[in-house]
Amino acid sequence: MGFEKWLKEFNLEKMNRRNFLKTTGKSAAATAIGLSIPAINQTEEIEAVPVFTGNPFTLGVASGDPLPDSVVLWTRLAPNPLAEDGKGGMKNRYVSVQWELSYDESFNNIVLSGKEIAAPELGHSVHAEVYGLKPGKEYYYRFKAGNEISPVGRTKTAPQRDADIKSLTFGIASCQAWTGGRFAAYHNMVEEDLDFVFHLGDYIYEKGDTETLTDYRLLHAQYKTSQDLQAAHANFPFIVTFDDHEVDNDWSDDISDPNYPEGERERFLAVRAAAFQAYYEHMPLRRRSKPNGPDMLLYRKFTFGSLIEFSILDTRQYRDNQVGSGFPGGPLDPEASNTNRTLVGSEQAEWLLKNLRDSRSRWNVIAQQTMMAQYDYDPGEGISVNHDQWDGYSADRDRLFSFIKKYEPSNPVVLSGDWHSSWVNDLKEDFNDSSSKTLATEFVGTSISSGCGWKNQIEAALSVNQHVKFFDGDYRGYVKCHVTHKSWESDYRVVSSPSNPDAVAVTLASFTVKNGKAGAVRIGGVDITRIAADTMMAGQPSPVKVTLSNGTAKQVEVSVNIPVPTGWKSENVTKVLEPSDEAVFDVLVTPPAEMPAAERLRVEVDAGETAVYGPPRDIQVVSALSGENVQLALDGGSSTTPIFPTYKRLVPEDTWEVSNGYGWVGTAPFARDRGNADALQRDLIASREELTIFRVNVPAGIHKVYFLTGDSVYGSANTIIRSDNKLLAEAGYALDPGQFKWLSFELDGGSTGKEIDLEISSELGDGAWRLVAFVMKGLK
Ligand SMILES: [Fe+2]
Repeated sequence: MGFEKWLKEFNLEKMNRRNFLKTTGKSAAATAIGLSIPAINQTEEIEAVPVFTGNPFTLGVASGDPLPDSVVLWTRLAPNPLAEDGKGGMKNRYVSVQWELSYDESFNNIVLSGKEIAAPELGHSVHAEVYGLKPGKEYYYRFKAGNEISPVGRTKTAPQRDADIKSLTFGIASCQAWTGGRFAAYHNMVEEDLDFVFHLGDYIYEKGDTETLTDYRLLHAQYKTSQDLQAAHANFPFIVTFDDHEVDNDWSDDISDPNYPEGERERFLAVRAAAFQAYYEHMPLRRRSKPNGPDMLLYRKFTFGSLIEFSILDTRQYRDNQVGSGFPGGPLDPEASNTNRTLVGSEQAEWLLKNLRDSRSRWNVIAQQTMMAQYDYDPGEGISVNHDQWDGYSADRDRLFSFIKKYEPSNPVVLSGDWHSSWVNDLKEDFNDSSSKTLATEFVGTSISSGCGWKNQIEAALSVNQHVKFFDGDYRGYVKCHVTHKSWESDYRVVSSPSNPDAVAVTLASFTVKNGKAGAVRIGGVDITRIAADTMMAGQPSPVKVTLSNGTAKQVEVSVNIPVPTGWKSENVTKVLEPSDEAVFDVLVTPPAEMPAAERLRVEVDAGETAVYGPPRDIQVVSALSGENVQLALDGGSSTTPIFPTYKRLVPEDTWEVSNGYGWVGTAPFARDRGNADALQRDLIASREELTIFRVNVPAGIHKVYFLTGDSVYGSANTIIRSDNKLLAEAGYALDPGQFKWLSFELDGGSTGKEIDLEISSELGDGAWRLVAFVMKGLK
């Protein structure tokens, strides 16, 4: 069968219905929101020397869509980016904005410059499409408006179409929920040497009631206020595509929700038009992607010499309504494989297959949103899938796979986002037959910040999904890909906490694909399998246990070192690991003797020439004073869990009694046992009540109190302690999961001693304060 004929078959009868929908959709929504873009022809309307109420470049600068001779430069004028009307503090006037391009950061030699008009109907965004550039060349750019100059951005053009470039290095980002923590991943990404960055969707998260252009503008502006996100844009050109949350959760074409009510379509198309416009206004996209009402052309192709070609998909705008139910997976709906249903739509499918057929590149990449590999969430007999992903539209996947099998494009690779977790998948001719041919390789990048609450369901079914070579749901980050004519390498770069800018990105795992052989192979190195430390006794040496395995075929000498703050001590450990050996390195750490401490320490693993892989190397180390030489030492938790040596048990049932000298007054708190750590850290006492009172008998004289807050599994709210309405201590911020902090303050028992009420409350985070340990020590 010839290609044309095959394509025809691929088309089905979708074309007609699609075109019909598109035309009607367009006019309906354009009318609904009264969208009209006036032509600017009167020069007096344009402010050539505007005066701003403040710096108009608060949202940073960006560049994107690199071609051999061109990039698009972006900014949006917004002296007051979060102004309630969504206009960024700008008046309803056209503003002239100048852009400048230079080979160096100092702008001593301006290579090119030009003017754009920032229009109020496009939120005063600027999309300067600059042509006449040199291929494969780095440029610096900036904007000027009135007397204001923007920050400097760096960009890079693509190499000449047929250039024989040696390598390309790029990053993959997706899913950056503002509430997930911002944005340690980008903070680290800017340190990388990347040619460009993909953003595969969920750049913002709508809030369910996000509906108007103003709503969407405000969300985009809020996200763009992150200095780390701005820095990423200023450092690298971006190639972006949206997923669902830029518009609405799980939307399909003109349907906001799989079970949409009557009349909903008109409303949703207006919402979609608003969301598309705000997306365009905030992204470094070319004018070809400027929305026309509820329609936006986002799928496009980028070629980087003879090395690699990327087809960027839009898997939302043209898809059929979702079928099935259940999350993260639900029983396979028979409709999921209906050949009349589509994920990408016929026009885009045709375009994609044509790209794959015509490409002369070594690597052929499909960069898109949801996971393409099949995943069966039912570890038993049944089949359970996520119907929002390609599994819910498997006919399109079958058609693509048949095409790849038949036409054998060179080295197909699929890049995906959406699922807030790291995956490496073999894309199989038949996913249910592990001996069937691997047609392509899929890399699914983890989220920048969005959480993966469904990780356990995925892990439970890994054994019945043999084509999944790697999965991790614990860590946030990005993927770094380095591609040469011989091989592809993907590094899964992760951080310990998405919100902590000090978190250092490390390579969780690395995979390679060899030219001509689909399917990724894990790169062997020294792997960190576990880092753990029990609560230490102040002043006593205690081990941080670092478990390492040698995944290489040779003997490797490994040394582990833990740098410590002043007042601490630690010792290096060096061992020789034979191939496939696993060993625990006990690194002795001595915390200070005089006070308890909680520190995040970084474990350094040096294996010489051999790469080191594994989870983030930070470890929370907690030390406690011995309970023997203090007035009171309490280990908070439930009545059945083990107690920290030398401490007394404190439980919610301990109501105030004079004979005890401590206890709860009024509404009692609750206890939680996480069961995953040592006696002190595994359990805690907590409450979400407005105020909880803990009364303590303070003997005569000044006493120092140490109050340990935190949670070994979940994040903690800011714990606040007052007495007589006076603030004694607070964490000052919500704590990350696994983070602990000792709060300390003094209590005065006067000359004869007295009972003091501690008023414990909380704010931020999950709203629950935590008490893990309580120590009171007399000051001599
Ligand atoms: Fe997401």
